Amino acid sequence: MAKHKTPLLDELEKGPWPSFVSDIKREAESRAKNEKGVEYQIPVDVCDDLLGVLELSFTDGETHWKHGGIVGVFGYGGGVIGRYCDQPEMFPGVAHFHTVRVNQPSGLYYSTEFLNKLCDLWEFRGSGMTNMHGSTGDIVWLGTTTPQLEEIFYELTHNLDTDLGGSGSNLRTPACCLGMSRCEYSCIDAQDLCNDLTHEFQDFLHRPAFPYKFKFKMDGCPNGCVASIARSDLSFIGLWKDNIRINQEAVKAYIGGEIPPNGGAHAGRDWGKFDIQKEIINLCPTKCMWMEGDTLKINDKECNHCMHCINAMPRALRIGEDTGCAMLLGAKAPILDGAQMGTLVVPFIKCESPYTEIKDLIEKLFEFWMEEGKNRERVGETMKRIGLYKILQVLEVEVDARVVQEPRTNPYIFWKEEEVTGGWDRKIEDYRSRHKM
Ligand code: HEM
Ligand code: HEM
Ligand code: SF4
Ligand code: SF4
Repeated sequence: MAKHKTPLLDELEKGPWPSFVSDIKREAESRAKNEKGVEYQIPVDVCDDLLGVLELSFTDGETHWKHGGIVGVFGYGGGVIGRYCDQPEMFPGVAHFHTVRVNQPSGLYYSTEFLNKLCDLWEFRGSGMTNMHGSTGDIVWLGTTTPQLEEIFYELTHNLDTDLGGSGSNLRTPACCLGMSRCEYSCIDAQDLCNDLTHEFQDFLHRPAFPYKFKFKMDGCPNGCVASIARSDLSFIGLWKDNIRINQEAVKAYIGGEIPPNGGAHAGRDWGKFDIQKEIINLCPTKCMWMEGDTLKINDKECNHCMHCINAMPRALRIGEDTGCAMLLGAKAPILDGAQMGTLVVPFIKCESPYTEIKDLIEKLFEFWMEEGKNRERVGETMKRIGLYKILQVLEVEVDARVVQEPRTNPYIFWKEEEVTGGWDRKIEDYRSRHKM
């Protein structure tokens, strides 16, 4: 029997889509039964009370969560988000309902043993409710009480070999795609870079020193499976500098229909015979591909690495061998200004352990932003306010025609006199002599 009546929430269980209400009810039941005999450290009815308080909020049309209240673990300035309910008498199970962010494994690989340990710990010391994974990438644990925090932290760091994630004005938990571990498109070892930068910048992850949050995300290639270009203040996107490798025999096999295009992903319906002109060449955004007889040609200088042809004909086309990554700065979701995509600041950089060059750039950026960024201003907003050019100077990166603000938009660069050949001093007569009409 449910502890609270929840007619409004019950509406959300109707329809074909998965429902968080059903999920929470299931967890509430499982806790009540307690078949495993867990010695729950927080109220057994936390899930029932969560449903109850949400129902009340729906009825009242306002939230019953209080804002504020700093909680955390000793020595860390983030990783736990404090939550208190303003109706503790009615819903004692969620009087405290803190969220814990846990650093996820790079590429989201789990062993069953690790998953079991995570779940056991969270059933024992928390609500049992998780969100795998949060928007930032973390393992998100929903709802526990203040006395449990140090205990959880001890277990995480001593027995589970992981750590809290980031929250607040600090470096957020870096996230990457599964990279070279499984994906043939990966131009960089995204997992290694993610893990390396997580360790290198741990201090920033745990001790908020920034004007606002800051995220790193790594995509092994421009397919962007973690959407770093839109979701991180600093994104790393794997790229190649040389030519797409072509296996002409396989090209013929695709044309002849022996190999299904798109890795066979469009099976189950007859899409007609594969047409390389229509499906590949005409769709190349830079129009840099053509056929000479039955040989496929690419003018690689024009290729913008959109990945379309490689995705469609993976056995015929492969990423190049001279690989590295591009770095883009300033993506963010709305809040102050509108949403922003990352601006390309470093068109190509080698991306090999120990990533010294990349780390140097990051250090310069952090130092500058901590000094110049306004409170609650994302680095993308700082960049907008003071201009991209200033950021490039801070990073000591030269302005380059490939530096694009966002697709199809050029940044505004305000040159200094000493950077322009001949400076501002020009003789109008000189100009006229070359432009007679
Ligand atoms: C089952 C219910 C819930 C789910 C599935 C859920 C899920 C999430 C997820 C996925 C995030 C993003 C984490 C990230 O960026 O990695 C998040 C953040 C957050 N959640 Fe929840 N949440 C739940 C309940 C709650 C409740 C009850 C509260 C308030 C009492 C709450 C307050 C917040 C806040 C304030 C943040 C953003 C923190 C920040 O970045 O400043 N959540 N939640
Ligand atoms: C019309 C209904 C919905 C639409 C159109 C929709 C659409 C989306 C889209 C486009 C994404 C991003 C997927 C990606 O990363 O590529 C997403 C993510 C997600 N959706 Fe929905 N969604 C819907 C309903 C729901 C419902 C009912 C829930 C749960 C109660 C839900 C929970 C989530 C969660 C947890 C994520 C992942 C967020 C993150 O951690 O990044 N969605 N949804
Ligand atoms: S971003 Fe590229 S390398 Fe990473 S998983 Fe996706 S397709 Fe593979
Ligand atoms: S990756 Fe994109 S731009 Fe480059 S050749 Fe293929 S389709 Fe054209």
